[in-house]
Amino acid sequence: MTPMHLFDEACSTTDLLELMPPLALQGDVVRYRYGGQDRLLLNDPEDTYRVVADPRKQFAALPLLQRVMGEGLLVAHDLERWKPRRLVVQREMSPGKVAKHAGLVMENTRRVVDSWSPGQRISLRDEVNRLALDNLGDTVFGEEFAGHREIVRETLELLLEAFDALESGQRNELLEQRLEESITKLEAALAGIVDGRRASAGDPVYVLDVLIRAAKSGDPVFADPFIRDESITMMIAGYDTTAFIIGAATVLLARHPEARQRLRAEVEAARTAEVAPEKFVKAVPFARLVIAETLRLYPPIPFMHRPLLEDQVIAGQTLPEGTLVTASAWVAHHSPKLFKDPLVFDPDRFSPERRTEIPRHAYFPFGMGQRTCVGNHFAMLSMAIAVALIAADTDLRFDSTDLAIEAPITLRFADEALATVTDVRGRDDRPGRDSAEAGCTRGDEVR
Ligand code: HEM
Repeated sequence: MTPMHLFDEACSTTDLLELMPPLALQGDVVRYRYGGQDRLLLNDPEDTYRVVADPRKQFAALPLLQRVMGEGLLVAHDLERWKPRRLVVQREMSPGKVAKHAGLVMENTRRVVDSWSPGQRISLRDEVNRLALDNLGDTVFGEEFAGHREIVRETLELLLEAFDALESGQRNELLEQRLEESITKLEAALAGIVDGRRASAGDPVYVLDVLIRAAKSGDPVFADPFIRDESITMMIAGYDTTAFIIGAATVLLARHPEARQRLRAEVEAARTAEVAPEKFVKAVPFARLVIAETLRLYPPIPFMHRPLLEDQVIAGQTLPEGTLVTASAWVAHHSPKLFKDPLVFDPDRFSPERRTEIPRHAYFPFGMGQRTCVGNHFAMLSMAIAVALIAADTDLRFDSTDLAIEAPITLRFADEALATVTDVRGRDDRPGRDSAEAGCTRGDEVR
């Protein structure tokens, strides 16, 4: 075993972003101390898989997360109850089901882009936050969600700060008190949204509708507060993760004009071919490669810390139950042992021809195994559409294309990501928009 690396003097997870990657080269299991706790970083992809894919997941700071998300999927540990609940959400988040929301994601992206004008200064961070919340609302919760964006954002901010403080061994009770107040407001907002959806007749449109239907079934697994817990979980898990990747990919494309040009050409071709909204993502395969590569360079959940649930053999040694291990997408994705030129932006490494060069279990931005992200298809769809349309229809000049990031649990912009809009292609300049994208307004047939 390697000597202990002492990172306690690091005050937040953000510091670990710099401190941890060099540990990838020091062995399959590397000891470090952070937040007052001894931990083991796992560097072998097979070991990492065995820990992450174990569905009996336990969390650090569980009580805090449970106060916000209750028994929601992300933190659920009773597998008998988790499974039926997971299936309800998973069915509604399958690739086929999420494709019906593509038109609205396009519409939302265009609304953001059309609100920009040449010469305007924008904060990309704020713009993508707005867009991601709109996309989440239009897929999971329905129109009423738009009125409550602010409280979702506030609750998430407070949760991240409070969690980060706990993780680094500096509990902040004042922050936790503010979080309590924010949750109460969020619950009230959600109750209003749920009442509105209950009153609307017809087939389910949003993920929330299938939660309401499951709750009506009378099965105790879906009894109160099932709707509350799963809804708040999706708000927390699905918002800043997708927002950050849309923003990060947009900055990376500004740094790599040849990639942006290629994406633009794809979008033009899809428009000329009058591809239907639900087939749009398939028609822009390079957009998916760009997203995959952005998720590699900037995995929104960089570290997963788990206590071992029983004695486990890892790298040939038996580690006792309770040992705190770290599976890190950030470290793995930046490891020269696993990825050639790991710091280079190279979307084609995910092309069908080269994808096989990536070692098994070395790439896991959405986790692995049964607890893999339930929102991943929706996330990929909404991020690919947003990034493709922003690249095709705008020119942005960033004050700096060095991405300033921080990591209070999830990766996010450390600054506003300020840019000047130098061009916005007008609606009339977009070939084929009348058929390929028009008509995707709220309430039309794409639902
Ligand atoms: C870029 C976007 C996203 C990334 C990188 C991401 C990443 C992840 C990861 C790594 C996990 C596994 C966590 C663990 O094993 O401890 C996870 C789980 C989860 N994610 Fe996502 N996520 C994203 C978007 C979303 C969206 C859009 C939603 C919902 C609308 C969502 C909902 C969930 C839920 C409910 C779980 C728990 C699943 C379970 O344990 O059954 N995520 N996500």
